[in-house]
Amino acid sequence: MTEALRIGVAGLGTVGGSVLRILRDMAEMLNRQCGKELVVTAVSARDRSRDRGVDISAMQWFDDPIALAKSADIDVFVELIGGDDGPAKAAVEAALKAGHHVVTANKALLAKHGVTLAKIAEDKGVLLNFEAAVAGGIPVIKAMRESLTGNTVSRVYGIMNGTCNYILTRMWDEGISFEDCLKDAQRLGYAEADPTFDIEGNDTAHKLALLTSLAFGTQIAADDIYLEGISNISLADIHAADELGYRIKLLGVAQKTDTGIEQRVHPTMVPTSSVIAQVHGVTNAVAIETDLLGELLLSGPGAGGNATASAVLGDIADIAKSRPGFQHGPVFSTPAKALKPYKRARMRSHAGGYFIRLTVEDRTGVFAAIAKRMADNDISLESIVQRPPMDPAGDVSKTVILVTHETTEAAVKKAIDAILRDGHLVDKPQMIRIERAG
Ligand SMILES: NC(=O)c1ccc[n+]([C@@H]2O[C@H](COP(=O)([O-])OP(=O)(O)OC[C@H]3O[C@@H](n4cnc5c(N)ncnc54)[C@H](OP(=O)(O)O)[C@@H]3O)[C@@H](O)[C@H]2O)c1
Repeated sequence: MTEALRIGVAGLGTVGGSVLRILRDMAEMLNRQCGKELVVTAVSARDRSRDRGVDISAMQWFDDPIALAKSADIDVFVELIGGDDGPAKAAVEAALKAGHHVVTANKALLAKHGVTLAKIAEDKGVLLNFEAAVAGGIPVIKAMRESLTGNTVSRVYGIMNGTCNYILTRMWDEGISFEDCLKDAQRLGYAEADPTFDIEGNDTAHKLALLTSLAFGTQIAADDIYLEGISNISLADIHAADELGYRIKLLGVAQKTDTGIEQRVHPTMVPTSSVIAQVHGVTNAVAIETDLLGELLLSGPGAGGNATASAVLGDIADIAKSRPGFQHGPVFSTPAKALKPYKRARMRSHAGGYFIRLTVEDRTGVFAAIAKRMADNDISLESIVQRPPMDPAGDVSKTVILVTHETTEAAVKKAIDAILRDGHLVDKPQMIRIERAG
């Protein structure tokens, strides 16, 4: 067996702890597969005295992850601290500059500084691997970076936040309100005490930003993503979707259009018969649409210690198996210096079907007035139905549900504004985009 691969791990929490345990428990198999011994020689966390479920006494301890990152006694620096700046960024940068390979699960860091860090890695001729940063254990980065070379990607979309999918699944299955599902998710550890980042779509946006860069060879543009979370999805929407043959999912979608690239995260209606509609609970799924393949869908566990550690270990193993002196492939598939500037397609131009739910006064002529506003904006309707309200705002209101054929966001917004001005609505209008899905 050749020389051991010396690994430094910074961050020994949910993911870091699992990585250490698997490296200990599966040492024999991993060493055999990699053709060399994988040894954790040094670690860093905040609290040295905390039990990590692994004996770390033989490993060198660093209070400062940056000092660990610079250490001459490691070959690979594994960053599992988290955060888009601060110690995680400083340590990853220091490790790359010191000529160490880096493995990270940190989507927030890469969404903000990915291109800069990739440039450093490529200049230094080292690897910056980040499989665990998108959809946890699902090997989507490897698929996009390696297996799909030669394919032209037209769209990538997916369920990339387990908290949101858990909430939407339970609302659907059990008819429980968003607020109650969220409380359960927090109790079961699927949602943070402050869940804003998950439910408002920011977490999905970070992951989407990385997939966009890989798919289209563009610079990462995480601040240029249209964002809408799931907190305003009601049981009325869930029931209406069911009746119409759709399920509601929080999707991140990146799509090439004639005017640029759309990056959007929002609640989306997908046909109940589509594969992605069957992805339930905390499970994640990413679909990649290409010229050669049609649609490829990868699904599996998107978070959790072991699932995320599985992706981290795959990245470490790739480094262990790489040949010394061999030129490594670019971090984001295209060399960082050759990534094109991101050109945003305006959301107003987004073309697709729309679901619109209106709570209106129960008066003669309202239905016809709504249909007219749609026609005024050249919106053709697949269906328009009236229902007694799910959540009666008084006995004088009715629900009108419209599903449009393909139209533009601008036309839908104009029609809804006109309906609002007409003064027939007794509650806020709801609009949910419909996504084509295989
Ligand atoms: N958890 C998941 O399911 C999951 C899934 C995909 C990706 N990720 C990503 O993986 C990364 C780690 O997540 P996690 O859930 O494992 O986080 P975590 O459980 O909160 O663990 C964070 C670790 O970082 C250590 N740490 C914090 N500040 C530090 C500092 N200044 N210096 C040294 N160590 C420091 C903490 O030390 P102490 O233990 O001493 O406090 C802790 O061990 C994040 O980037 C996250 O986005 C997580």
